[in-house]
Amino acid sequence: MDQSNREIKVFASLEKLSLAVAKTFARLAAAAISAEGSFFAALSGGSTPRRAYELLAGSEFQTQLDWSRIHLFQVDERPVPPDHAESNYRMIRAALLEPAHLPAQNFHRMEAERADLDNVATEYEADLRQTTKTPASEMPRLHLIMLGMGPDGHTASLFPGSAALVEVARAVRPNYVAKFNSNRLTLTYPVLNNARQVLFLVAGADKGEILRHVLFPAPQSPRLPAQAVQPVNGQLAWYLDQPAASLIKNELNH
Ligand code: 6PG
Repeated sequence: MDQSNREIKVFASLEKLSLAVAKTFARLAAAAISAEGSFFAALSGGSTPRRAYELLAGSEFQTQLDWSRIHLFQVDERPVPPDHAESNYRMIRAALLEPAHLPAQNFHRMEAERADLDNVATEYEADLRQTTKTPASEMPRLHLIMLGMGPDGHTASLFPGSAALVEVARAVRPNYVAKFNSNRLTLTYPVLNNARQVLFLVAGADKGEILRHVLFPAPQSPRLPAQAVQPVNGQLAWYLDQPAASLIKNELNH
């Protein structure tokens, strides 16, 4: 597997990792807005990215970011209302959208609480395509997609053994997750792997073992969902904190 477009950075703490993420976001946004007039990014939920979102909404970045030219999408969402404790949107809204005063029309929420999830996926893809002005014959190409990784090697809502792993036609689709017995909404590999920049944020010692498997797989080891994120014409970066990177020190020093 070609790893020439892969960058791995290790930070002393989640705070330092989060600041680096915010700086990368701001740098990419400024470049895209300068060159094309807008910046399109997709944000993951979970817990790891929260601090980076808070920093982006903070004073250090407010003067650097023209939010009126930034459109934010979701990487995935759970089948819960927007105010539910499990909602990825709820976390993003509290950490970023409200404090940054992002114009409402610039955040594209996944309405994963609706029962007609397949229609939601179709509508979301149409909105994604329209906002990014993507021709029907192409996949949306976002400037930045921020991903996390679970201890089972899932990313987005692409879980081991789930149907969406083999999706090649739709940019967004429902995906039944057996371990939670629930249907989620997720971006698919065709969108993830068409991004200009994918940025994984992984922190915590509990991710150490799975991170070694994903970044430095043993021969013949099973391929996990996070390993299939390989931007075709883009950059892939892994931002890790030291606890998460504790089992790959030797590999990183070669
Ligand atoms: C979700 C996320 C998911 C997340 C990983 C890691 O809906 O849960 O999008 O893919 O990124 O589960 O989560 P943590 O950052 O909380 O470890």
